[in-house]
Amino acid sequence: MISLKNPSQIAKMRDAGKILYEVEQQVREAVKPGVTTMDLDVLAEQLIRKNHAIPSEKGYEGYPCSICASINDEVVHGIPSDTRVLKEGDILTVDCTLLLDGWQSDSAFTVGVGQISDEAAKLIRVTEECFWLGVRQAIVGNRLGDIGHAIEKHARENGFQPIREFTGHGIGREMHEDPSVFNFGEPGRGLRLRRGMTIAVEPMIAAGDWHLQIDEDGWCARTVDHSLTSHYEHTIAITEAGYPEILTLPGFDWNKVEDV
Ligand code: MF3
Ligand code: CO
Ligand code: CO
Repeated sequence: MISLKNPSQIAKMRDAGKILYEVEQQVREAVKPGVTTMDLDVLAEQLIRKNHAIPSEKGYEGYPCSICASINDEVVHGIPSDTRVLKEGDILTVDCTLLLDGWQSDSAFTVGVGQISDEAAKLIRVTEECFWLGVRQAIVGNRLGDIGHAIEKHARENGFQPIREFTGHGIGREMHEDPSVFNFGEPGRGLRLRRGMTIAVEPMIAAGDWHLQIDEDGWCARTVDHSLTSHYEHTIAITEAGYPEILTLPGFDWNKVEDV
């Protein structure tokens, strides 16, 4: 079932998104060689709670931490650990969800640790471009397939593959609501977008083959071929006219964006 949000509900999701943005900015600044993924988890949890929000990943289906910290070939659900030390050349995805006053917000980014390879930098850049190309399709009257197609096309044109086993999703009072937002698809197919839909758009892109395996911890998903992966996510609201509001980028203004 798809729940549409009214303007006052979207305002609450905007408040949650602002906090998540600020938390993630600080976590991003803490990323450097020698830091452990548990250091980042502790920092994120402290910042979330200081802002009177709740780290909603912690305890979600038994997940033990406040962020997912996925390195290199790890796509999603890397469990933070004090034995996972970031090293120069790694690429790290931080994916965090928080709850403020009953409303969820979800965002992820991938960042290089120190100097990274040209291929890794291209993968991060193309994944963010996939997000923006997808989000430009998130307008009233378009369909979910338009978003997925835009993401898939740009990934493939750059020699990369979208992950198929994890998707974006509706979000609101729950972290994961209907519909699933696939990172591939056909234009003009799928659910029609309506004002008041709030969704997490989250391209996950592999430099190699998209097939995944799950680690023995039951959580961490990585590419079978161990190719690098990148992930970029924001929570957005479909608006009456024009491009969507990016709830996890406070103050973002489409009028100030150059065309991709
Ligand atoms: N933030 C993730 C998403 O984008 C979900 C986290 S799964 C959890 O959907 F187990 F870590 F909570
Ligand atoms: Co997320
Ligand atoms: Co998500």
